Amino acid sequence: MKYDTGSCRILEKQQLTVDIYDVTVDAGKLALLAKPGQFVHVLVPGHTLRRPISICGIDRAANTLRLVFQVRGEGTAQLAALNCGDSIDLLAPLGRGFSLGNTGRKVLFVGGGIGVPPLLEAAKPFGENAAVVLGFRSREAVILKEDFEQNGNRVQIATDDGSLGHHGLVTDCMEALEAEHFAFEEVFACGPAPMLKAVIRAAERLGVPCQVSMEQRMACGVGACLGCAVKLRREDGGEYYGHVCKDGPVFRARDIVWED
Ligand SMILES: Cc1cc2nc3c(=O)[nH]c(=O)nc-3n(C[C@H](O)[C@H](O)[C@H](O)COP(=O)(O)OP(=O)(O)OC[C@H]3O[C@@H](n4cnc5c(N)ncnc54)[C@H](O)[C@@H]3O)c2cc1C
Ligand code: FES
Repeated sequence: MKYDTGSCRILEKQQLTVDIYDVTVDAGKLALLAKPGQFVHVLVPGHTLRRPISICGIDRAANTLRLVFQVRGEGTAQLAALNCGDSIDLLAPLGRGFSLGNTGRKVLFVGGGIGVPPLLEAAKPFGENAAVVLGFRSREAVILKEDFEQNGNRVQIATDDGSLGHHGLVTDCMEALEAEHFAFEEVFACGPAPMLKAVIRAAERLGVPCQVSMEQRMACGVGACLGCAVKLRREDGGEYYGHVCKDGPVFRARDIVWED
């Protein structure tokens, strides 16, 4: 696995919602190595542990990476306070991303909340072959809808309070796509664990494979500290612990053993 560190200048910064920020950085050669579904590990001044943020966009011609993050604690608050011209230290690209396969197939992307950003670059090569279902709390929390539309993807929104799109769950939209005979051959998902489990169950019922991007607290980010253990299933049915940072964050759904 190839990764490196670099001091990356912030070229663009936008605030997408009350607590979500969108930054594009000049990532130099790191952008050339990056693949959809991988993440960057951001060094926040004054903190020993880096913060993992998914790669939302890759522009290899411009050598840039796009990162979309939500302020959760001290580290992400410090990142949000940076401006264009400031630099951030990245260790990147880390982990295994999505295996996209044949992009001429019909596929489905399902994202929830701050799990949406890593799907954007993965959905791009599928264009209109990709249906994208994005779930949020409310209209105010919706991010990246227009970006998926610019990919040429067919986008549906579900909100918990019904303030935009379907009033209900992303899995309701999966059923609606099935009823419309949009015969997707694979599902790619990222979001909170309850959503992922429901999407995996729906994909199993439909008999289609599913890849999911997992979130886990991380320290080193490169498989050295055992801080991000996840229970996995081998082909022979045996179980073992792998690392979300090195073996993932993207896994085949059938390989994950959910422990709760
Ligand atoms: C593979 C991966 C990709 C991610 N991609 C994104 C993304 O694209 N956008 C986004 O907004 N968030 C993303 N996250 C979550 C993000 O890493 C955390 O919100 C962030 O680290 C919180 O840092 P903090 O200093 O603000 O919070 P604090 O709670 O102060 O952090 C304390 C420590 O816990 C770690 N930590 C806290 N929450 C998480 C978490 N959920 N996952 C991993 N480590 C955590 C921090 O890295 C730090 O070391 C991702 C997490 C993982 C594992
Ligand atoms: S974060 Fe150290 S092994 Fe994954």
